[in-house]
Amino acid sequence: MTAPLLDIHLTDDDLTTALRTDARTGLSADPKSLPPKWFYDARGSELFERITELPEYYPTRTERALLARVVGEIAAAAHAQVLVELGSGSAAKTRLLLDALTAEGSLKTYVPQDVSASALRGAADEIAAEYPNLSVHGVVSDFTDTLHNLPRGGRRMIAFLGGTLGNLVPAERAAFLAGINEVLEPGELLLLGTGLVIDPAILVPAYDDAAGVTAEFNRNVLHVLNNRLDADFDPEKFDHVAVWDAENEWIEMRLRATEAMTVTVAGLNLTVDFAAGEEMRTEISAKFRPESLAVELGEAGFTPTHTWIDPDDRFALTLAERR
Ligand code: SAH
Ligand code: AVI
Repeated sequence: MTAPLLDIHLTDDDLTTALRTDARTGLSADPKSLPPKWFYDARGSELFERITELPEYYPTRTERALLARVVGEIAAAAHAQVLVELGSGSAAKTRLLLDALTAEGSLKTYVPQDVSASALRGAADEIAAEYPNLSVHGVVSDFTDTLHNLPRGGRRMIAFLGGTLGNLVPAERAAFLAGINEVLEPGELLLLGTGLVIDPAILVPAYDDAAGVTAEFNRNVLHVLNNRLDADFDPEKFDHVAVWDAENEWIEMRLRATEAMTVTVAGLNLTVDFAAGEEMRTEISAKFRPESLAVELGEAGFTPTHTWIDPDDRFALTLAERR
Protein backbone atom coordinates (compact mmCIF):
# COMPACT_ATOMS: atom_id res chain seq x y z
CA MET A 1 0.00 0.00 0.00
CA THR A 2 1.16 3.56 -0.73
CA ALA A 3 0.91 5.74 2.39
CA PRO A 4 -1.74 8.40 1.92
CA LEU A 5 -0.62 11.97 1.29
CA LEU A 6 -1.70 14.31 4.05
CA ASP A 7 -1.83 18.11 3.68
CA ILE A 8 -1.99 19.87 7.03
CA HIS A 9 -3.45 23.33 6.48
CA LEU A 10 -4.45 23.56 10.13
CA THR A 11 -1.75 22.84 12.69
CA ASP A 12 -2.31 22.33 16.36
CA ASP A 13 -1.18 25.93 16.95
CA ASP A 14 -3.60 27.20 14.30
CA LEU A 15 -6.41 25.36 16.08
CA THR A 16 -5.52 26.93 19.41
CA THR A 17 -5.40 30.39 17.82
CA ALA A 18 -8.80 29.88 16.19
CA LEU A 19 -10.30 28.52 19.42
CA ARG A 20 -9.00 31.55 21.31
CA THR A 21 -10.94 33.85 18.97
CA ASP A 22 -14.12 31.74 19.02
CA ALA A 23 -14.03 31.26 22.80
CA ARG A 24 -13.39 34.93 23.57
CA THR A 25 -16.23 36.00 21.27
CA GLY A 26 -18.67 33.26 22.22
CA LEU A 27 -18.14 33.31 25.99
CA SER A 28 -18.38 37.11 26.12
CA ALA A 29 -21.61 37.25 24.10
CA ASP A 30 -25.11 37.37 25.49
CA PRO A 31 -26.43 34.72 25.03
CA LYS A 32 -23.20 32.71 25.06
CA SER A 33 -22.48 30.31 22.22
CA LEU A 34 -19.68 28.20 20.75
CA PRO A 35 -19.31 26.83 17.20
CA PRO A 36 -19.85 23.04 16.88
CA LYS A 37 -16.53 22.33 15.18
CA TRP A 38 -14.94 22.38 18.66
CA PHE A 39 -16.65 19.11 19.61
CA TYR A 40 -14.26 17.19 17.40
CA ASP A 41 -11.00 16.47 19.15
CA ALA A 42 -10.03 12.76 19.17
CA ARG A 43 -12.49 12.04 22.03
CA GLY A 44 -15.29 14.03 20.37
CA SER A 45 -14.80 12.21 17.07
CA GLU A 46 -15.06 8.88 18.92
CA LEU A 47 -18.20 10.04 20.74
CA PHE A 48 -19.72 11.02 17.39
CA GLU A 49 -19.04 7.50 16.09
CA ARG A 50 -20.88 6.11 19.12
CA ILE A 51 -23.80 8.46 18.41
CA THR A 52 -24.12 7.02 14.90
CA GLU A 53 -24.82 3.60 16.44
CA LEU A 54 -27.48 4.74 18.92
CA PRO A 55 -31.00 3.41 18.40
CA GLU A 56 -32.42 6.96 18.54
CA TYR A 57 -29.93 8.49 16.06
CA TYR A 58 -31.61 7.61 12.76
CA PRO A 59 -29.67 9.93 10.33
CA THR A 60 -26.54 7.80 9.78
CA ARG A 61 -28.29 4.50 9.20
CA THR A 62 -30.97 6.17 7.06
CA GLU A 63 -28.39 7.87 4.86
CA ARG A 64 -26.36 4.65 4.61
CA ALA A 65 -29.41 2.63 3.47
CA LEU A 66 -30.35 5.34 0.97
CA LEU A 67 -26.80 5.51 -0.38
CA ALA A 68 -26.68 1.72 -0.69
CA ARG A 69 -29.88 1.85 -2.77
CA VAL A 70 -28.91 4.67 -5.17
CA VAL A 71 -25.12 4.63 -5.28
CA GLY A 72 -25.08 2.96 -8.71
CA GLU A 73 -27.17 5.81 -10.12
CA ILE A 74 -24.88 8.36 -8.47
CA ALA A 75 -21.77 6.72 -9.92
CA ALA A 76 -23.30 6.49 -13.40
CA ALA A 77 -24.32 10.16 -13.33
CA ALA A 78 -21.06 11.38 -11.85
CA HIS A 79 -18.22 9.70 -13.81
CA ALA A 80 -16.03 11.25 -11.12
CA GLN A 81 -12.28 10.85 -11.28
CA VAL A 82 -11.79 12.52 -7.91
CA LEU A 83 -14.06 12.17 -4.91
CA VAL A 84 -13.53 14.97 -2.39
CA GLU A 85 -15.34 14.46 0.91
CA LEU A 86 -15.72 17.41 3.27
CA GLY A 87 -16.06 16.64 7.00
CA SER A 88 -15.31 13.00 6.17
CA GLY A 89 -14.89 11.83 9.79
CA SER A 90 -14.47 8.04 9.85
CA ALA A 91 -15.69 7.88 6.21
CA ALA A 92 -17.70 4.78 7.14
CA LYS A 93 -20.42 5.32 4.52
CA THR A 94 -17.95 6.51 1.91
CA ARG A 95 -16.95 2.92 1.11
CA LEU A 96 -20.30 2.57 -0.67
CA LEU A 97 -19.40 5.47 -2.95
CA LEU A 98 -15.82 4.32 -3.44
CA ASP A 99 -17.01 0.82 -4.40
CA ALA A 100 -19.54 2.14 -6.91
CA LEU A 101 -17.20 4.72 -8.44
CA THR A 102 -14.35 2.23 -8.79
CA ALA A 103 -16.74 -0.36 -10.30
CA GLU A 104 -17.88 2.33 -12.73
CA GLY A 105 -14.23 2.68 -13.68
CA SER A 106 -13.73 6.43 -13.38
CA LEU A 107 -12.34 6.98 -9.88
CA LYS A 108 -8.62 7.61 -9.40
CA THR A 109 -8.34 9.72 -6.23
CA TYR A 110 -10.11 10.10 -2.91
CA VAL A 111 -9.61 13.33 -0.96
CA PRO A 112 -10.99 13.13 2.60
CA GLN A 113 -11.01 16.50 4.41
CA ASP A 114 -11.64 17.15 8.09
CA VAL A 115 -10.78 19.49 10.96
CA SER A 116 -10.10 16.44 13.15
CA ALA A 117 -6.58 15.22 12.29
CA SER A 118 -7.06 12.00 14.29
CA ALA A 119 -10.27 11.03 12.46
CA LEU A 120 -8.76 11.98 9.12
CA ARG A 121 -5.56 9.99 9.60
CA GLY A 122 -7.50 6.91 10.71
CA ALA A 123 -9.87 7.06 7.73
CA ALA A 124 -7.15 7.85 5.17
CA ASP A 125 -4.93 4.98 6.36
CA GLU A 126 -7.78 2.47 6.36
CA ILE A 127 -9.04 3.46 2.93
CA ALA A 128 -5.54 3.45 1.42
CA ALA A 129 -5.15 -0.12 2.72
CA GLU A 130 -8.57 -1.25 1.50
CA TYR A 131 -8.30 0.38 -1.96
CA PRO A 132 -4.70 -0.16 -3.12
CA ASN A 133 -5.44 1.17 -6.62
CA LEU A 134 -6.78 4.46 -5.34
CA SER A 135 -4.61 7.45 -4.57
CA VAL A 136 -5.66 8.87 -1.17
CA HIS A 137 -4.86 12.51 -0.42
CA GLY A 138 -6.10 13.75 2.95
CA VAL A 139 -6.52 17.42 3.86
CA VAL A 140 -6.70 18.75 7.42
CA SER A 141 -8.47 22.10 7.18
CA ASP A 142 -11.57 24.02 8.20
CA PHE A 143 -14.26 23.89 5.52
CA THR A 144 -15.67 27.22 6.70
CA ASP A 145 -12.31 28.81 5.78
CA THR A 146 -11.06 28.63 2.22
CA LEU A 147 -11.61 25.53 0.09
CA HIS A 148 -8.93 26.73 -2.33
CA ASN A 149 -6.35 24.48 -0.72
CA LEU A 150 -8.13 21.32 -1.93
CA PRO A 151 -6.16 19.49 -4.64
CA ARG A 152 -7.21 20.27 -8.22
CA GLY A 153 -7.35 18.28 -11.45
CA GLY A 154 -9.63 15.49 -12.73
CA ARG A 155 -13.42 15.56 -12.87
CA ARG A 156 -14.48 16.11 -9.27
CA MET A 157 -17.46 15.32 -7.13
CA ILE A 158 -17.51 16.97 -3.71
CA ALA A 159 -19.50 14.93 -1.18
CA PHE A 160 -20.82 16.51 1.98
CA LEU A 161 -22.71 13.81 3.83
CA GLY A 162 -24.26 13.13 7.21
CA GLY A 163 -26.37 16.29 7.34
CA THR A 164 -23.36 18.37 8.42
CA LEU A 165 -24.62 21.26 6.23
CA GLY A 166 -27.28 21.69 8.93
CA ASN A 167 -24.62 22.48 11.53
CA LEU A 168 -23.84 25.78 9.78
CA VAL A 169 -25.92 28.84 10.61
CA PRO A 170 -27.75 30.17 7.53
CA ALA A 171 -25.19 32.89 6.68
CA GLU A 172 -22.30 30.39 7.03
CA ARG A 173 -24.26 27.91 4.93
CA ALA A 174 -24.70 30.36 2.06
CA ALA A 175 -20.99 31.31 2.21
CA PHE A 176 -20.00 27.63 2.34
CA LEU A 177 -22.09 26.70 -0.73
CA ALA A 178 -20.75 29.74 -2.58
CA GLY A 179 -17.22 28.63 -1.60
CA ILE A 180 -17.79 25.17 -3.10
CA ASN A 181 -19.15 26.77 -6.23
CA GLU A 182 -16.03 28.93 -6.46
CA VAL A 183 -13.60 25.99 -6.41
CA LEU A 184 -15.54 23.73 -8.80
CA GLU A 185 -15.47 23.98 -12.59
CA PRO A 186 -18.76 24.17 -14.51
CA GLY A 187 -20.23 20.66 -14.79
CA GLU A 188 -18.49 19.31 -11.68
CA LEU A 189 -20.71 17.95 -8.93
CA LEU A 190 -21.81 18.33 -5.35
CA LEU A 191 -23.37 15.35 -3.54
CA LEU A 192 -25.18 16.57 -0.46
CA GLY A 193 -26.75 14.54 2.36
CA THR A 194 -29.32 16.45 4.40
CA GLY A 195 -31.70 15.56 7.20
CA LEU A 196 -35.32 16.48 6.43
CA VAL A 197 -37.90 18.16 8.66
CA ILE A 198 -39.74 15.34 10.44
CA ASP A 199 -41.87 14.77 13.51
CA PRO A 200 -40.14 16.35 16.57
CA ALA A 201 -41.11 13.22 18.54
CA ILE A 202 -38.52 11.34 16.47
CA LEU A 203 -36.09 14.21 15.99
CA VAL A 204 -35.59 15.31 19.59
CA PRO A 205 -34.67 11.87 21.02
CA ALA A 206 -32.06 11.55 18.24
CA TYR A 207 -30.32 14.48 19.95
CA ASP A 208 -31.12 13.44 23.52
CA ASP A 209 -30.52 9.69 23.71
CA ALA A 210 -31.34 7.59 26.75
CA ALA A 211 -27.74 6.39 27.20
CA GLY A 212 -26.45 9.97 27.47
CA VAL A 213 -23.85 9.70 24.69
CA THR A 214 -25.02 12.92 23.00
CA ALA A 215 -24.87 14.67 26.38
CA GLU A 216 -21.22 13.59 26.73
CA PHE A 217 -20.51 14.70 23.15
CA ASN A 218 -22.06 18.08 23.96
CA ARG A 219 -20.00 18.47 27.15
CA ASN A 220 -16.87 17.54 25.23
CA VAL A 221 -16.58 21.13 24.06
CA LEU A 222 -15.88 22.05 27.69
CA HIS A 223 -13.11 19.42 27.87
CA VAL A 224 -11.64 20.94 24.70
CA LEU A 225 -11.67 24.41 26.31
CA ASN A 226 -10.03 22.97 29.44
CA ASN A 227 -7.35 21.16 27.44
CA ARG A 228 -6.53 23.80 24.85
CA LEU A 229 -7.08 27.03 26.75
CA ASP A 230 -6.38 25.92 30.30
CA ALA A 231 -9.97 26.63 31.38
CA ASP A 232 -11.46 25.17 34.58
CA PHE A 233 -14.96 24.17 33.45
CA ASP A 234 -16.53 21.38 35.49
CA PRO A 235 -18.44 19.62 32.67
CA GLU A 236 -20.63 17.75 35.17
CA LYS A 237 -22.09 21.11 36.24
CA PHE A 238 -23.69 21.52 32.81
CA ASP A 239 -26.84 19.72 31.69
CA HIS A 240 -27.35 18.69 28.09
CA VAL A 241 -30.33 20.38 26.43
CA ALA A 242 -31.76 19.58 22.97
CA VAL A 243 -34.78 21.55 21.74
CA TRP A 244 -36.62 21.72 18.42
CA ASP A 245 -36.90 25.30 17.18
CA ALA A 246 -40.02 25.06 15.01
CA GLU A 247 -39.60 28.53 13.54
CA ASN A 248 -36.04 28.01 12.31
CA GLU A 249 -36.58 24.29 11.75
CA TRP A 250 -33.46 23.27 13.59
CA ILE A 251 -32.48 21.30 16.66
CA GLU A 252 -30.56 23.48 19.07
CA MET A 253 -28.13 21.87 21.49
CA ARG A 254 -27.23 23.84 24.55
CA LEU A 255 -25.36 23.39 27.83
CA ARG A 256 -27.29 24.62 30.87
CA ALA A 257 -25.38 25.66 34.02
CA THR A 258 -26.80 23.72 36.97
CA GLU A 259 -25.68 26.44 39.42
CA ALA A 260 -24.18 29.93 39.40
CA MET A 261 -20.44 29.74 38.82
CA THR A 262 -17.40 31.63 37.63
CA VAL A 263 -15.13 29.86 35.19
CA THR A 264 -11.56 30.93 34.51
CA VAL A 265 -10.08 30.57 31.04
CA ALA A 266 -6.43 31.03 31.96
CA GLY A 267 -5.23 30.90 28.35
CA LEU A 268 -7.40 33.93 27.57
CA ASN A 269 -6.94 35.76 30.85
CA LEU A 270 -10.71 35.70 31.06
CA THR A 271 -13.26 34.95 33.76
CA VAL A 272 -16.75 34.01 32.69
CA ASP A 273 -19.83 34.15 34.93
CA PHE A 274 -22.68 31.72 34.47
CA ALA A 275 -26.03 32.29 36.20
CA ALA A 276 -27.86 29.23 37.54
CA GLY A 277 -29.89 27.85 34.62
CA GLU A 278 -28.06 29.95 32.01
CA GLU A 279 -27.90 28.23 28.62
CA MET A 280 -25.07 28.37 26.10
CA ARG A 281 -25.73 27.29 22.49
CA THR A 282 -23.24 24.70 21.25
CA GLU A 283 -24.81 23.49 17.99
CA ILE A 284 -27.67 23.89 15.59
CA SER A 285 -28.68 20.98 13.42
CA ALA A 286 -30.98 22.38 10.76
CA LYS A 287 -33.39 20.11 8.95
CA PHE A 288 -34.38 20.81 5.37
CA ARG A 289 -37.30 20.70 2.94
CA PRO A 290 -36.41 19.47 -0.56
CA GLU A 291 -38.00 22.48 -2.30
CA SER A 292 -36.21 25.15 -0.26
CA LEU A 293 -32.92 23.26 -0.44
CA ALA A 294 -33.22 23.28 -4.24
CA VAL A 295 -33.75 27.05 -4.10
CA GLU A 296 -30.68 27.50 -1.85
CA LEU A 297 -28.57 25.41 -4.19
CA GLY A 298 -29.85 27.39 -7.17
CA GLU A 299 -28.94 30.66 -5.45
CA ALA A 300 -25.42 29.32 -4.83
CA GLY A 301 -24.96 28.54 -8.56
CA PHE A 302 -25.86 24.84 -8.64
CA THR A 303 -28.48 22.99 -10.67
CA PRO A 304 -29.86 20.01 -8.73
CA THR A 305 -30.09 17.08 -11.15
CA HIS A 306 -31.23 14.25 -8.84
CA THR A 307 -32.86 14.02 -5.41
CA TRP A 308 -33.25 10.70 -3.63
CA ILE A 309 -35.29 10.41 -0.40
CA ASP A 310 -35.59 7.44 1.94
CA PRO A 311 -38.98 5.67 2.24
CA ASP A 312 -39.75 7.37 5.58
CA ASP A 313 -38.97 10.89 4.23
CA ARG A 314 -36.25 11.46 6.82
CA PHE A 315 -33.14 12.05 4.76
CA ALA A 316 -32.25 13.28 1.26
CA LEU A 317 -29.30 12.89 -1.06
CA THR A 318 -29.06 15.59 -3.69
CA LEU A 319 -26.74 15.60 -6.69
CA ALA A 320 -26.19 19.09 -8.04
CA GLU A 321 -24.13 20.37 -10.94
CA ARG A 322 -22.01 23.49 -10.75
CA ARG A 323 -23.37 25.88 -13.42
N1 SAH B 1 -19.29 12.71 7.23
C1 SAH B 1 -19.32 11.84 8.40
C2 SAH B 1 -18.98 12.58 9.70
C3 SAH B 1 -20.01 13.59 10.12
S1 SAH B 1 -19.57 14.29 11.69
C4 SAH B 1 -20.67 11.18 8.49
O1 SAH B 1 -21.51 11.46 7.64
O2 SAH B 1 -20.89 10.37 9.39
C5 SAH B 1 -19.03 15.88 11.19
C6 SAH B 1 -17.59 15.85 10.72
O3 SAH B 1 -17.26 17.15 10.25
C7 SAH B 1 -16.61 15.51 11.84
O4 SAH B 1 -15.68 14.56 11.40
C8 SAH B 1 -15.94 16.86 12.15
O5 SAH B 1 -14.61 16.71 12.60
C9 SAH B 1 -16.03 17.57 10.83
N2 SAH B 1 -16.11 19.02 10.93
C10 SAH B 1 -16.93 19.75 11.71
N3 SAH B 1 -16.74 21.06 11.51
C11 SAH B 1 -15.75 21.15 10.57
C12 SAH B 1 -15.10 22.24 9.93
N4 SAH B 1 -15.44 23.50 10.21
N5 SAH B 1 -14.15 21.97 9.00
C13 SAH B 1 -13.81 20.68 8.71
N6 SAH B 1 -14.39 19.61 9.29
C14 SAH B 1 -15.35 19.85 10.20
C1 AVI C 1 -22.32 15.96 12.31
N1 AVI C 1 -23.71 16.38 12.45
C2 AVI C 1 -24.43 16.25 11.20
C3 AVI C 1 -24.41 15.79 13.59
C4 AVI C 1 -25.88 16.23 13.60
O1 AVI C 1 -26.74 15.36 13.62
O2 AVI C 1 -26.15 17.44 13.53
C5 AVI C 1 -23.76 16.17 14.90
C6 AVI C 1 -24.52 15.71 16.08
N2 AVI C 1 -24.90 16.46 17.07
C7 AVI C 1 -25.56 15.74 17.97
N3 AVI C 1 -25.65 14.52 17.51
C8 AVI C 1 -24.99 14.45 16.35
